[in-house]
Amino acid sequence: MLKDMDKYCFLGCLIEIGGRGPVVWQVMDWDRRRMISLVTDAEYQEDPVQVIAHFKRHIKTLPLDTYKIHMSERGDLLRVSTDPKDDPWIIIWRFEMEDLQLEKLLSGVETVIRIELCEISRLAWGIDLVSYGTGEEEKRVDFKYALIPQDSHRFWTELNVWMRLSHHPNIVPIDRIVLDEIRGQIVGFTTPYIPGGSLEDTPSQGVKLKWLKQLIQLVDALNLRYGVIHDNIIPRHLPVDPETDDLLLINFNFSRRIAGPVRLFIFDISGQEMARVILTVYIIITGEKRFQYTHDTKKISNAAAVMELEEWTPAPGMILDHPVSAYRSLLEEWTRQRRAVHVQARECIDWPEFPYKQTVWERDERGASYAVGGAYDCSRAGEREAGRAVIEWERPPEDALRDEAMVVDDDEYVYV
Ligand SMILES: Nc1ncnc2c1ncn2[C@@H]1O[C@H](COP(=O)(O)OP(=O)(O)O)[C@@H](O)[C@H]1O
Ligand SMILES: [Mg+2]
Repeated sequence: MLKDMDKYCFLGCLIEIGGRGPVVWQVMDWDRRRMISLVTDAEYQEDPVQVIAHFKRHIKTLPLDTYKIHMSERGDLLRVSTDPKDDPWIIIWRFEMEDLQLEKLLSGVETVIRIELCEISRLAWGIDLVSYGTGEEEKRVDFKYALIPQDSHRFWTELNVWMRLSHHPNIVPIDRIVLDEIRGQIVGFTTPYIPGGSLEDTPSQGVKLKWLKQLIQLVDALNLRYGVIHDNIIPRHLPVDPETDDLLLINFNFSRRIAGPVRLFIFDISGQEMARVILTVYIIITGEKRFQYTHDTKKISNAAAVMELEEWTPAPGMILDHPVSAYRSLLEEWTRQRRAVHVQARECIDWPEFPYKQTVWERDERGASYAVGGAYDCSRAGEREAGRAVIEWERPPEDALRDEAMVVDDDEYVYV
């Protein structure tokens, strides 16, 4: 189920410079997977929080095919447009299978068509629990997809890195690449669904010393062998396989190469990764949320401060299979060993550059700027007008599906 705070994303707004004209906000509705333009008065732009609050009041009553709404300063709905010409959806860069240069991978990757996926529930924005296949062949997987221009680069990196590390026993493998039903381009990928949740979802399952050992070995492999930093190690990205009781890692959208083209090992960057491991173990054991933020610039000093603490008091109800001192010694020993090594990653993974050029801004004869060659030159409204089919991502709201038993069968499957 999508959390309320994950449902709507204000992607930005267009304001006429110096003008007092309307302000147009771009809103992504992740629940229904649609983009809406929200038009308000110029004076109103000062307070986006108010705009968002008013918007949320109306969202449930808007028709599914709403493309544009006008709102008064008091938040009243003035106009609602369901005219497809007003569809503000920008079609983002899409990749071909060849762009991935799969021939360089040891094993082939299978594909599935988007419309063959049957939604079971919505886990977070841009990620659903789905199934495909029938009977014995049915498979439950997580479907992760990118829809907004802001996600394109991260999606490209995540898919490429993840595919090249999929064989590691402590990494949830990529299951299938998901292609769209119109042009056969990549819209997302699936990973096997790991029931039971992550170390964040079920903190009371604690952290076994064995899992910490697995995490350390995995991070060593990523940094020292494959030459990458995951850079997003947090309890939420660490599910435990209920069958094997092994710790697993997901989410590679912040991954980066440590080694540049010269393959030099830069110690400092992997130090940040180690800091995240220390902070993650500390957060889980103590329940202290202060250091949760992944991209805290002070992670190395925070990790050092945590290691200096006299005591790590376990959170109430926390079950550990060893004394806290065993976890701390393991971390201390690890950091000590790492300080002494200076290695060159031997099996650096490599992946193709983002296959599109950056957006270039040009000016027309009146001096107005327009974008060429980027994400911004292809709108769904324009595609429709040119008679080309577009992917229809829209779907009913999750709440309504739950309320209306008619679309939900005994297995909790939601047919959309
Ligand atoms: N294969 C999977 N099995 C089970 N849960 C998953 C899987 N992939 C992702 N999740 C869960 O879905 C949520 C969203 O995942 P993701 O978008 O990758 O991370 P983030 O929340 O950091 O953006 C997280 O809570 C994660 O634990
Ligand atoms: Mg996400």
